[in-house]
Amino acid sequence: MAKPSATAALAGIERYRHQVCSHPLARGLSPEEVRSHLAAIPAERFPTVAYAARGATPCVQPRGGVPCFADQLELTHRLDEAGADFIPLTIDSCTRHNEYDTATELLNRSEEEGKNYLNGYPLVSHGHELTRELYKGLAKPVSLRHGTPDARLLAEIAIGSGIVEIEGGGICYCLPYSEGFPLDRSLLYWQYVDRVCALNSTPERPIHRESFGPLTATLVPPAIAVAIEIIEALLAAEQGVMSFAVSFGQTGSVIQDVATSRVLRRLAREYLDQFGFETTQVYVVYHQWMGQFPPQRERAAALIAGASVVANMIAADKIVVKTVDEALGVPSAAINAEAVQTVRYVLHTFGCVEPVSSPVVDTEAALIESEARSILSAVFGLSGDAFWESVFRAFQLGYLDVPFSPHRDNANRLVSMRDANSSIRIAERGAVPISEQDMRLEAQLLTSRRTKAEKTYQQLLRDINMMV
Ligand code: 5AD
Repeated sequence: MAKPSATAALAGIERYRHQVCSHPLARGLSPEEVRSHLAAIPAERFPTVAYAARGATPCVQPRGGVPCFADQLELTHRLDEAGADFIPLTIDSCTRHNEYDTATELLNRSEEEGKNYLNGYPLVSHGHELTRELYKGLAKPVSLRHGTPDARLLAEIAIGSGIVEIEGGGICYCLPYSEGFPLDRSLLYWQYVDRVCALNSTPERPIHRESFGPLTATLVPPAIAVAIEIIEALLAAEQGVMSFAVSFGQTGSVIQDVATSRVLRRLAREYLDQFGFETTQVYVVYHQWMGQFPPQRERAAALIAGASVVANMIAADKIVVKTVDEALGVPSAAINAEAVQTVRYVLHTFGCVEPVSSPVVDTEAALIESEARSILSAVFGLSGDAFWESVFRAFQLGYLDVPFSPHRDNANRLVSMRDANSSIRIAERGAVPISEQDMRLEAQLLTSRRTKAEKTYQQLLRDINMMV
């Protein structure tokens, strides 16, 4: 059995770091110099400080990344002025795939032609010295948003740039995004990232990690997301990470979102405590609708407003926002800033300090909690020398199974569907260790919808596309 353990922190990392940082694009990055840079930036740049100051509404975080430095600088200022509590740095796909030469080539072309050939900011190509200039005088945290299974160099350069929130994880940045990147390698590369975050942390200035709970954003049952988020929090805590956000994506069911948030917050704390990580701080982040977006701006705005109300109802610590141009591609700085202002407006109009509750939410929360606990205890019981090995094995056995993941290490045997409340139900559990009793309740809740004469595949298509 391999349970999470505080003694699992990567040993002998200095030599390993030296190897990663000797890449020419690391431009002589020195761990000692980075630590003094981190000690000198304003305290408000650290997420723990931003979260402590948030008041009655969730912090607001847009996404945003453009290839050229001057444009990224302008975007940073616009989002700051619009009232974003966290400033994003979204990375381009070439860099995410470690194709740094292509990223550099396309960056040069973007600069020469005044046209964007990358879908984000190529941080490795720009380097840490220039990127620090983006954040001179900024008193808010910057959040690295990417999707990279091997983020070792990227994370070193990000932290070297003064970016102290790193999104991702060995599972959440591998399974939804790639077909063939080996999951065990991704888990190990993320151990490195977590360890480097820990080594750059002090109790007052912790480098904050955040997991990406929406996963494939397509009919993922809350219990699966909750289990994976808690596993990623534990994997990070093993490496010494002191501040961590678990997250999930709007499901399309208000009942389920309120229930998921409650269970996620409680169980994340409970399992961290259980394995000796009482001092690791934990936060809950909510992602606005991550499924397909309507091309009509009015509808997109309505969706964004609805999601903002739910973020208040669940008392999220932070909401990650979409823009009205989501269906069209990378938004302009103006549209992005407008999204921040709109979300802030809705959040402040419908303030809500306490998460809402009701008997139907209680029933849903009890079911999610019971399922998540069964899955987690089965994973903890798997063989392996280290916890990450048990996690890897859990995917091979199909104990953890993410619907619609393209990854070849994912079982794809669990089948999910929506019930009459739009809640995501588990129709077939595959090899996921959920009790008979919980499956009976899932089936019972599903019948509320399945009385309609509709074939399973038709219903699935409708659920995926959220067709009305
Ligand atoms: N700028 C702004 N938003 C972006 N996203 C991805 N790349 C960018 C970018 N460069 C957002 C989109 C996408 C989500 C995962 O991140 O909303 O759906």
